[in-house]
Amino acid sequence: MIERIDAIRAEAEAAIAAATTTAALEELRVRHLGRKAELPNLLRGVAELPPAERGAVGKAANVARQALEAQITARGAELELAELRERLARDRVDVTLPGTPPQPVGRLHLLTATRREIEDVFLGLGFRVAEGPEVETVFHNFDALNHDPAHPARARTDTFYVPGPGRGPDEVLLRTHTSPVQVRAMREQPPPIAIIMPGRVYRRDSDATHTPQFHQIEGLAVDEDITLADLKGTLLAFAKAIFGEEREVRLRPHFFPFTEPSVEVDVSCFQCAGTGALDGAARCNLCKGTGWLEILGSGMVDPNVFAYVREYGYDPERVQGFAFGMGVERIAMLRHGVPDLRLFYDNDLRFLRQFG
Ligand code: PHE
Repeated sequence: MIERIDAIRAEAEAAIAAATTTAALEELRVRHLGRKAELPNLLRGVAELPPAERGAVGKAANVARQALEAQITARGAELELAELRERLARDRVDVTLPGTPPQPVGRLHLLTATRREIEDVFLGLGFRVAEGPEVETVFHNFDALNHDPAHPARARTDTFYVPGPGRGPDEVLLRTHTSPVQVRAMREQPPPIAIIMPGRVYRRDSDATHTPQFHQIEGLAVDEDITLADLKGTLLAFAKAIFGEEREVRLRPHFFPFTEPSVEVDVSCFQCAGTGALDGAARCNLCKGTGWLEILGSGMVDPNVFAYVREYGYDPERVQGFAFGMGVERIAMLRHGVPDLRLFYDNDLRFLRQFG
């Protein structure tokens, strides 16, 4: 009897050790320890054995059963872990892989790319980026920028006013330029200050060269010893970075309410190298034969503007500064030969895909 128990145990142990799946192991458990299995039957029959054998047989059968149970538990834990590892390896999803089929990555809109490029140029020159609200007050958009009460830009036909009670400095409008951010920035930080201010602006205009909403980048530098030469040098560095190392800039007298003197700035034409002619004879179509392209408006900050921020450290007797404002659309159109402003807003991928 004892020999039989040893034989059962040896056979079962070998089978358990060789089991390769939890399912196979479960079958072995049923076969060797289940209700109909030989060993448990044998245990149940111990009572009917002659008293002399009972003790030894019962003990051997019990030991064998416990040993097999322990072995099954241990092997089961091993197999479960192995199966879990295998499942994890099989189910792993790499979320960084491209889909099937791979989705093409997007690109920056030409206006965004142009804005960022211009920002980079000025960041490299020591300017910082500042922003202001698109919904502005008449005070910031016009009054504090020295606009005459009769200035045409104030007209209801030119500017989007937000309906509200009454008129006056607190009346609200969609900003017509980024210049009001100059005023806000100076109220936040005493001189010296060197900032650029990108953003959307709004005017009541709509044709091939005007959209009701467009983008500007404003610039402002104020310190005790800023001169027109600093303005010209800064804009020359900008023009070279954006339009090519060979470029020159020229300043033409102009008028803005908030700069004095005011200038319009031209860059030498990059298509004809400033000659106004293409291949000797034909007139350059980009600069219309003039050799120059207008890129922005600027000037020295009018002391009347400083007077509005005097209490924030801007004493018109002590500080001077320059300011400029350019249209992002205009810079992008010149640079890439875009014929119609509205192409920027049509969201036609055939147009947008050509850039970036
Ligand atoms: N705000 C002016 C415009 O929109 C541009 C400008 C900015 C001119 C700063 C001078 C100085 O036309």
